[in-house]
Amino acid sequence: MGILTDDMKQVVRQQRMGFMATVCPDGSPNLSPKGTATVWDDDHLVFADLGSPVTIQNLEHNPACEINVLDVFLRKGYRFKGTAQVVSNGDLFDEINKAFIEGTHGIRRTGLPAKRYVLMTVTKTAPLVSPGYTPGKTEAEMREEWTGYWAGVQETNS
Ligand SMILES: Cc1cc2nc3c(=O)[nH]c(=O)nc-3n(C[C@H](O)[C@H](O)[C@H](O)COP(=O)(O)O)c2cc1C
Repeated sequence: MGILTDDMKQVVRQQRMGFMATVCPDGSPNLSPKGTATVWDDDHLVFADLGSPVTIQNLEHNPACEINVLDVFLRKGYRFKGTAQVVSNGDLFDEINKAFIEGTHGIRRTGLPAKRYVLMTVTKTAPLVSPGYTPGKTEAEMREEWTGYWAGVQETNS
């Protein structure tokens, strides 16, 4: 059994969005969204490099990273901490590339060619739960509140 629980895997696969933090050479943080972030196996997350030059550069110097995935309706999610490697050739690249191109391995087809993938080994996980979950507040209530909020935003913006 790996570090990723079934619920973690479901949330990551469903959300199709994770924010990855890496460390710049000067020690400052770098955070950017990865819409292809998904589960590779019970211990690894993966995303396609479609335009993440700073993330890639940082990982080549320092593999430390964190990905946060959040369900914005439920206001819950997970933090995944670990190290990541840039995979740009070899058998592992072929395997990951095939999964993204063909939509196998539980991975959604991106339809976009990637020259590199980032494979993260998760070493630490933590739940993310909004402080808005005051005593007695249920997930159903939270979902209703934020579904309404986002519907209003969409109406305003359309
Ligand atoms: C919604 C959204 C999803 C994105 N998904 C990805 C992705 O899966 N892979 C990727 O390489 N870039 C993705 N990007 C683009 C990068 O986040 C963006 O180019 C960013 O500036 C890269 O910064 P970095 O070089 O610091 O990683 C996405 C951007 C947005 C807005």
